[in-house]
Amino acid sequence: MKKDKLHQERVIILDFGSQYTQLIARRVRESKVYCEIFPYSVSLEEIKNFSPKGIILSGGPKSVYDNDAPLVSKDIFNLNIPILGICYGMQLITHLLGGKVARAKEREYGFATLKIKEKEDIFSYIIEDEIPVWMSHGDRIEKLPKGFISIAKTSNSPYAGIKNKKGNVFGVQFHPEVYHTPLGKDIIRAFLYKVCGLRGLWNMHSFVEKSIEEIKKTVGNKKVLCALSGGVDSSVTAVLINEAIGKNLYCIFVDNGLLRKNEAHNVLRMFRDNFDINLKLVDAKNLFLKRLKNIIDPEQKRKIIGHTFIEVFEKEAKKIGKVDYLAQGTLYPDVIESVSFKGPSAVIKSHHNVGGLPEKMNLKLIEPLRELFKDEVREVGRELGIGDDIILRQPFPGPGLAVRILGEVTEDKVRILQDVDEIVEEEMKKSGYYWKVWQSFPVLLPIKTVGVMGDERTYDNVIALRVVESMDGMTADWARLPYDLLGEISRRIINEVKGVNRVAYDISSKPPSTIEWE
Ligand code: XMP
Repeated sequence: MKKDKLHQERVIILDFGSQYTQLIARRVRESKVYCEIFPYSVSLEEIKNFSPKGIILSGGPKSVYDNDAPLVSKDIFNLNIPILGICYGMQLITHLLGGKVARAKEREYGFATLKIKEKEDIFSYIIEDEIPVWMSHGDRIEKLPKGFISIAKTSNSPYAGIKNKKGNVFGVQFHPEVYHTPLGKDIIRAFLYKVCGLRGLWNMHSFVEKSIEEIKKTVGNKKVLCALSGGVDSSVTAVLINEAIGKNLYCIFVDNGLLRKNEAHNVLRMFRDNFDINLKLVDAKNLFLKRLKNIIDPEQKRKIIGHTFIEVFEKEAKKIGKVDYLAQGTLYPDVIESVSFKGPSAVIKSHHNVGGLPEKMNLKLIEPLRELFKDEVREVGRELGIGDDIILRQPFPGPGLAVRILGEVTEDKVRILQDVDEIVEEEMKKSGYYWKVWQSFPVLLPIKTVGVMGDERTYDNVIALRVVESMDGMTADWARLPYDLLGEISRRIINEVKGVNRVAYDISSKPPSTIEWE
């Protein structure tokens, strides 16, 4: 990567397998410093090439004295770059420099009170003498390496914060990156600004300018293809590339008949009116519905929708003539998943929707958001003038309503679910809860139950309402919505949507359940 002004101040995070490594990166970015996560095993040469102004060693599940403990070369301390070790990272510093780490009598997990002894360097921004911090460790430091002193302690750990005399190597036993350490971001910010001497140059306004220049340079007069879904990532990708190359960007929006009510129309209008984007709407409703006829198995549904999407998209793309690039809204968390210590793991299933297409059509990928976290993407979107109706949208699965209609998907069922979905969205927005939760949507169940309307007995469909809170979609909990809101949603659905006479609320968490029902 080029060291342009925006990337001048860079910090490297070495990942030792902590579940919180991404959070460290987010806290650093929130402090307006560019950072990247590397696996702990990178060579010293690679670290030097990145030319970081600071190094953060993450936590990790191992003990430094395990046979297979992940280690770094001791030479890292000769680079003369400030280092902050977090939990395992601090134990590693101790171990490498000749101190002693041993199993603590008791594993320390949860809140602890940190007593700060030296309010300089990493604690410069903390006014309090004592702050709550989050601990999660089984080992602790028994003896400091030569030249180190303790700068903070808890009742269990005399060395909860340490530094070397030179003042460029620091360690903390607790996790400043997690939400449970409320002032943790001030500690990370102090490491970046006070210890590493950074100023915080990373911002989305400069990012947009730099990206537009880069896209222009890369693409030149060639053509770029983009599958626009109306979601945040693909929308921001499309608008950014549109700013750079205008009419050489060809966006295709496929209406698979499984979208939310009026979605295709709204997306088309929004992008054409506000951004003058080259956007083609392809109506493939009938083809998708025909292929889904009699299909009940969820995996089969997904496969059919995926293949059909590629087929339709490819056919449309061929009409454009020679195209060289395919734009994708890949984000940094997707990139980390494939490079980090843990290797690929279960990710949100978002970017598989055009899977296989680049190879098949011989297209090079262009992924302008691959350095960014979701909140940064939203900020880029705002910089580009995209409205909050798109920016603050909840995620919507690629296979659309098909995975929310259990059993066979038919035109009638799609219509019922669209009508119900519209009510859910309206009520969630009216109450403000739409923006407080991760997702809120109805699921149409493949059963009918008895009801009574007026004097008549009914035998109609059941809707399950799914509303979840989550940070990233990987884990989730059902949202404790006010009863009155739940009541109003249920009342409106049953009164206004013909064919539904019962609403149930899903109170399962993920895991063991998933967010979607299929
Ligand atoms: P689950 O149901 O696995 O969903 O707990 C996690 C998140 O991923 C979304 N999701 C999808 N997104 N294509 C997508 O683009 C898919 O096939 C897909 N399946 C699930 C889901 O809405 C939730 O946010």
